[in-house]
Amino acid sequence: MPGSEVHDETVLITGGAGFIGSHIADALTEHNDIRILDNFSTGSRENVPATATTIEGDIRDEKTLAAAMDGVDLVFHQAALVSVQQSVEQPEVSHAINVEATIEVLEHARKEDARVVAASSAAIYGEPQTVPVTESDPKTPTSPYGVDKLSLDHYLRLYHDLYDLETVALRYFNVYGPRQTAGDYSGVISIFKEQAMNGDPITVNGDGGQTRDFVHVDDIVHANLRAATTTHVGDAYNIGTGSSVTIQELAEAIRDVTNSASDIVHTDPRPGDIRHSCPDITKAREQLEYSPSVSLEDGLETLVQL
Ligand code: UD1
Repeated sequence: MPGSEVHDETVLITGGAGFIGSHIADALTEHNDIRILDNFSTGSRENVPATATTIEGDIRDEKTLAAAMDGVDLVFHQAALVSVQQSVEQPEVSHAINVEATIEVLEHARKEDARVVAASSAAIYGEPQTVPVTESDPKTPTSPYGVDKLSLDHYLRLYHDLYDLETVALRYFNVYGPRQTAGDYSGVISIFKEQAMNGDPITVNGDGGQTRDFVHVDDIVHANLRAATTTHVGDAYNIGTGSSVTIQELAEAIRDVTNSASDIVHTDPRPGDIRHSCPDITKAREQLEYSPSVSLEDGLETLVQL
């Protein structure tokens, strides 16, 4: 049963009304006391399980965070500024949300002796010299977002090494699935799906030759649950499927699966965009016993039926 290994705990999910956080909440709500901290900037009340306690507020607000962290056993830290593009436009906002607030979460976790499982990112690698990337490969982020997530990733490790805190960083590749909203700063699959379903042009940035590994949110939940109970703490893991597609192929696949007549158009390349991204997931398979189960084909099929 999903989440059955985590029992009778007080669990805080930052960003718990959002796309990924709310799916983690769903998996744990039956057997745990779930608390959600969200400012509803992109999250939504309908995503929150009825039994969860919601604390509405910004993670950057000291009092709100202190109330949310009081007495917790386990934290899934999902609150973030998630858009690479937005971080290029507003690097200081990305830093405040993705780094400064993370340090505050870790500080409270120290006081509570709570485990922290946090969302790191494929963006920390920047332009990989070779793909697939392993966890120890060079990290040269190409965006403020990537720099900030790399800081988060290092802080997670440091809080383990310096203070013996149980931390796990999950380096998400490109996550998609139900509840991902479509907007200027959203993930490409939700944008393409909306464009295709409305018969609008599908807007590929640049030549579309850039590659991504799209991983379904159900697999991301599975990785988080494994990280919640693993003995391998103080470490970081690539979480994806292990195979990538080009954005052009993705646009065509979404047009097909939606039976859309939309044109595929090419706009300017996006500043800070990574060209190739594909993870080696051996470490997560071996140490977390993580195993992705949703193919892109199946994930897109179910997504368009919603
Ligand atoms: C995404 C996530 C980020 C995560 C990272 C891990 C979002 C918004 N961003 O960043 O949080 O850490 O994966 O790899 O979910 N594209 C188009 N047309 C569009 C929109 C995007 O062609 O209308 C292209 C982009 O230029 C890019 C690719 O699609 O090449 C993916 O873009 P996006 O979904 O924004 O994700 P990432 O930047 O990879």
